Amino acid sequence: MKKTNSHNQNCSSLQNREELGARDEQNPRTFACETKDGPNASSLVCPSMRLRLYRHHKILRAVLLFAFALTCVVFAGHVEPVLGNTDGVTSIFRPLSQPAQEIKELSVLVLAICGSIFVVVAGLLVYAIVRFRHRPGDELSEPPQVYGSNQIELAWTILPLLIVFVLILVTSRTIADIQNRKPPPTAVQATVIGHQWWWEIRYPELGIVTANELHVPASDGRGSRPTFLKLQSADVAHSFWVPLLSGKTDLIPNRENLMWIEPTKPGTYRGNCAEYCGTQHARMLIRVVVHPPDEFARWVDEQQQPAATETSAPEGRKVFFANSCVNCHTIRGTSAQGKFGPDLTHLMSRETLASGAALNSADSLRLWVRDPQKLKVGCLMPNMQLTDEEVDQVVAYLQTLK
Ligand code: CUA
Repeated sequence: MKKTNSHNQNCSSLQNREELGARDEQNPRTFACETKDGPNASSLVCPSMRLRLYRHHKILRAVLLFAFALTCVVFAGHVEPVLGNTDGVTSIFRPLSQPAQEIKELSVLVLAICGSIFVVVAGLLVYAIVRFRHRPGDELSEPPQVYGSNQIELAWTILPLLIVFVLILVTSRTIADIQNRKPPPTAVQATVIGHQWWWEIRYPELGIVTANELHVPASDGRGSRPTFLKLQSADVAHSFWVPLLSGKTDLIPNRENLMWIEPTKPGTYRGNCAEYCGTQHARMLIRVVVHPPDEFARWVDEQQQPAATETSAPEGRKVFFANSCVNCHTIRGTSAQGKFGPDLTHLMSRETLASGAALNSADSLRLWVRDPQKLKVGCLMPNMQLTDEEVDQVVAYLQTLK
């Protein structure tokens, strides 16, 4: 009798008992609760078998979903490059620089170990679900109940410990390798400062200040020339991430973080801020332009020049200097020495505007100067309320800043 009671309790704990019961009444042979007193189809029909089947389906569905998600993650890194060249690819599986290469090797190892565990566990689970599924006639039978097996408990304690230990060792070795690298004398030093929502880039040793586009030399057969970055923030936390070149490193107020990159293939590498930093976090893109060594030397030379003093746009120059533009922007060689916004000395040498929000063309410049809020809602540059004529004049002046 005891067994029957517990069985009935089990049945009555089901929320949808009545609903199931109603359906079972139509088919009492399948779902009726068999007790010692015979089929109990009239009142408490037992949906425990259906519940078990339902659970199995749920587990199976979860397993399949997880397998699908894992497959997506693994293939995500491979589909992109197949579709085009590496330009614009931001996959961690196609590194073209140290330390991204080393990080990828570690990720693949971790993924392989975790993937194997998943395959073993999911395989055993699926096997158990299929092999020991409910069969007609075993409503009352229970599998053998095993309590406390020392061997099994030792195995599932020691094995995971060993796996975690291996993961800790390889991870610490990779982290130490990356962090302990000392800059060689040939290294380029740059400071990247995160702002809401743009990147200030300074090369203190070269006397260059620019924005949103980090230029670095490639290391080639002629020698290693890594770029060492000091990462700082002017306001909130940001994160510098160019997947093809390196891992993520945060830019934190009142703190300096360090990272380095050593790309070998010239090209433009895209990245973005990887730490939510406010309304325009998604439009805080970064470009890293990797030059062959001689081209980099040329870029440095050009950037070191003061602003062009040509007088082809005198009206625009007048409007710019008469307004508060000068309080926020620096144009080297002029009285504009503001530090709040991007340095405009060589504005036209940059490919994009507003941290990648638009291509740097006359049209987007016009749009930007007329009302920055249209292009990038919430950005800290105000609408200067210039007339259309003044906008055109200022844009003409900005275009002389090559
Ligand atoms: Cu800066 Cu997100």
